[in-house]
Amino acid sequence: MEKLQQKILTEGIALSNTVLKVDRFLNHQIDPHLMKEIGEEFANRFKNEKLTKIVTLESSGIAPAVMTGLILDVPVIFARKKKSLTLTEGLITSKVYSYTKQETNDISISSKFLNKDDRVLIIDDFLANGQAALALIDIIAKAEAEAVGLGIVIEKAFQDGGELLRKKGYRVESLARIKSLENNTIQFINEEEK
Ligand code: G4P
Ligand code: NA
Ligand code: NA
Repeated sequence: MEKLQQKILTEGIALSNTVLKVDRFLNHQIDPHLMKEIGEEFANRFKNEKLTKIVTLESSGIAPAVMTGLILDVPVIFARKKKSLTLTEGLITSKVYSYTKQETNDISISSKFLNKDDRVLIIDDFLANGQAALALIDIIAKAEAEAVGLGIVIEKAFQDGGELLRKKGYRVESLARIKSLENNTIQFINEEEK
């Protein structure tokens, strides 16, 4: 997605060889116009999949997920990282291992929002090692629903998540694929060389 790539180049910062800071439009301040176009792009790519739900993970996945859900006219569910006060029964839970924090945390979705007839699109802001995506896939499987594919805003293609998920047979659509962040330079994988 050309516009997203331009935004990443003008407003993103390669903090290190592995971390891209995009808090000016995605992870802290949010650009609603860009999110709307991201939603349109995901909706267009998955429009023939007969989706019934979108699932994401709080917090930064919510904005692109909601825009996609608005256009596809399906509900959006975000997995919670902390137990909520009112959400106590019927939780489906899975573990996410964080390489950067070297810790495992539970994420959960209420079983009442997913059922065996659901065809689910997973949306997330980043794909790195794929651990969060695998946990969402696990929750969807436990609900006996079907994970139809994944829509990722920014894939760090130099990390393992994309390959892992594609090898498992999942359709992964990433709107920007980062080839490298080395030498403070953001390089993309172009569509032709995919
Ligand atoms: P890991 O594979 O690097 O261990 O990732 P981990 O699951 O620990 O992810 C930690 C958080 O960092 C996640 O957001 C993830 O989306 C995000 N993330 C991973 N790589 C990058 C990156 O290069 N740049 C940015 N900006 N974020 C990255 P989170 O903690 O779930 O936060 P949020 O959804 O509330 O923003
Ligand atoms: Na994030
Ligand atoms: Na996220």
